[in-house]
Amino acid sequence: MREVVGSTVFLTVLALLATVVVTIVAPGGSAAPASDDAQASRGAAIYAFSCAACHGGGGQGFAEAVAAFPPDYQQCTRCHQPQNAAQMPGSQVGLSVMAFSLGDPPPLTDAERLARFGTAAGLYHYVRATMPRWAPGSLDDEAYLDVTSHLLRLAGLLADEEALSAAQLAGQRLE
Ligand code: HEC
Ligand code: HEC
Repeated sequence: MREVVGSTVFLTVLALLATVVVTIVAPGGSAAPASDDAQASRGAAIYAFSCAACHGGGGQGFAEAVAAFPPDYQQCTRCHQPQNAAQMPGSQVGLSVMAFSLGDPPPLTDAERLARFGTAAGLYHYVRATMPRWAPGSLDDEAYLDVTSHLLRLAGLLADEEALSAAQLAGQRLE
């Protein structure tokens, strides 16, 4: 029974991964220079795959995230027990009804909250060092830049057609 649950989760993750790969690779498949719209859609895809499960698809926070799961999965603490570590060794993962703690994921849409990070550089470095919480640093630098641009869009601080470059991070104030 537990193994069945584990493989269901695994298949769901695989299906999500396939969707994201198709989304990222499909548009043209060329190495054309990224337009600003491309950063917006890359950032949205990375967010949907790596962040939305905890922070909600629209960044409204944990309640929005939970509502997107099937009803029989919505009691997250059944497996993601709060006393568990935020990151778990691979040997423990999926072997039992045991998974890393989800913590208390806050909403990300509040520009005033984000202002605590000072600049887009502060936000970028925080996210790169700590998120996704169960696998910090697991994305590459460009993906962290793209997803940071998505966070600014969620909070209404960057328009879709605007891009955020690595050179702009430090100068982009969040207030
Ligand atoms: C496993 C659940 C989980 C995932 C997945 C996750 N986060 Fe988080 N996030 C949290 C929790 C919990 C916090 C609160 C701080 C802490 O406990 O580390 C947080 C805090 C944050 C904050 C600080 C917000 C604030 O105002 O304090 C940002 C920004 C953030 N996450 C962005 C992201 C991004 C971007 C991703 C995807 C790359 C992501 N998170 C994936 C759980 C998660
Ligand atoms: C039946 C047990 C179970 C339930 C219920 C469950 N999870 Fe999970 N979850 C797992 C397992 C096992 C993994 C895989 C762990 C790994 O590979 O690191 C996982 C992986 C994840 C991941 C990381 C992989 C990914 O796809 O992003 C997140 C985030 C997550 N769960 C969030 C949630 C949330 C939010 C809920 C409640 C709405 C929830 N889970 C309910 C067992 C469960």
